[in-house]
Amino acid sequence: MKILGIETSCDETSAAVVENGRDVLSNIIRSQIDIHTRYGGVVPEIASRNHVEDLPYIIDEALEKAGLTLNDIDAIAVTNGPGLVGALLIGVSQAKAMALALDKPLIGVNHIKGHIAANYIEYPDLEPPFLSLIVSGGHTHLVLVKDYDEFEVLGKTLDDAAGEAFDKIARVIGLGYPGGPKIDKAAKEGNPEAYDFPRVYLDKDSLDFSFSGLKSAVINRLNTERQKNIEIVPEDVAASFQAAVVEVLVEKAIKAAKQSGTGKIVLAGGVSANSELRERLKQRGEEEGLEIFVPSLEYCTDNAAMIASMAYFQKSEDALDLDAVPNLKITAKSV
Ligand code: KG4
Ligand code: ZN
Repeated sequence: MKILGIETSCDETSAAVVENGRDVLSNIIRSQIDIHTRYGGVVPEIASRNHVEDLPYIIDEALEKAGLTLNDIDAIAVTNGPGLVGALLIGVSQAKAMALALDKPLIGVNHIKGHIAANYIEYPDLEPPFLSLIVSGGHTHLVLVKDYDEFEVLGKTLDDAAGEAFDKIARVIGLGYPGGPKIDKAAKEGNPEAYDFPRVYLDKDSLDFSFSGLKSAVINRLNTERQKNIEIVPEDVAASFQAAVVEVLVEKAIKAAKQSGTGKIVLAGGVSANSELRERLKQRGEEEGLEIFVPSLEYCTDNAAMIASMAYFQKSEDALDLDAVPNLKITAKSV
C-alpha cells in the first residue's frame, strides 16, 4: 500500500510517499526557517501563505522522486492536528481536494502520533508495546504505546514544552531562532557544570515535567550576573541549561519505562535531534538494560514520511468533513 503523506502543521511544508508504513519512497521537506528567522520565531500567517504557495510543487516533487503518478497512490494522509490552525488547514484542504478528485481514501493523522511513527521507518522490526518520550516545540509527553493506535499518557509538562524552553533560553542569551539547534551547537563549546540550574521535579514520584521554573532560574541568574558586571559566557549557559533539561527528560523516561515494564524507550519529536539527549539516553539505557530507539535526524523534525507511516498503521479512514484541530489530543481515537 502506497500512501501519499502531507504535513503543514507548523513551519515545514512536506510531502512523502511511503510504502507499507516503513519503506520511504520519497520525503520532500521545505523548511521555512530562513523566512521566519528575521521575526525571531514562526509567524503563523506567513507560515500559511508559504504552505499555500509551495505545497503543490512539493507534492509533485515527492511523486516524481518516488517514480509514481497520482494513479499509483492508494490513499492520501494528512496531519490534521495539533498545530497552527491556518497552517493545518492548507494541508487538510489540499488532501481533501485530492481525495475527492482521485476518489481515494483520506486519512487524518495526529502529528504527535506521526513523530512516534518516525521510528517505524527507522527500525523495521520495532513494534508496540513501548514507552515513548515525545519532546517537541509544543509537547513533552511520556506515553505508553500499547498498540499502533492505542496510547496512554503517563506524564506530561505542566507548563512549557521542552522545545519551547530551548527556544526561549536561546532568545534570552542572544542565540536567536531556531533555539534548539543553536543551543545544541553552542553547548558543545561550553561547560555544563558552569551553572547549577535546578533539575525541576526530578525528585518527585510523578512522571510530569515542569520547565518554567528552570527558565526563570536561568533568567534570574543572568540578571544577577549582569547587575554585578560579571561577564556571561553564552556557551556555558547553553551547556548548563541543556544538561538540566536532558537529565530530567532521560531520568523520567527511564523511570517510566521501568514502571511500564516494556523494556524499550522510543524517542520522538523535534527535540530528539538534540545531540546530548540522544547520547545520554543511549548511555543510560545501556546501563539500565533498556533498548533505546532514536530516529535519524531527517525524521526527528517535522516531515511527511512519518505522517504517511502512521496513516498505514492506524488503519482508519476519514470523511471529507475532516477538520483541522489545533489542540488534537494523542488519546483521541483515529476513526
Ligand atoms: O517536532 P518539531 O519539529 O515541531 C513541533 O511539532 O513542535 O519540534 C520543534 C522543536 C523546536 O522547539 C526546536 O527548537 C526543537 O524542536 N529542536 C531542538 C533541536 N532541533 C530542534 N531542540 C534541541 N536540540 C536540537 N538539536
Ligand atoms: Zn513536530
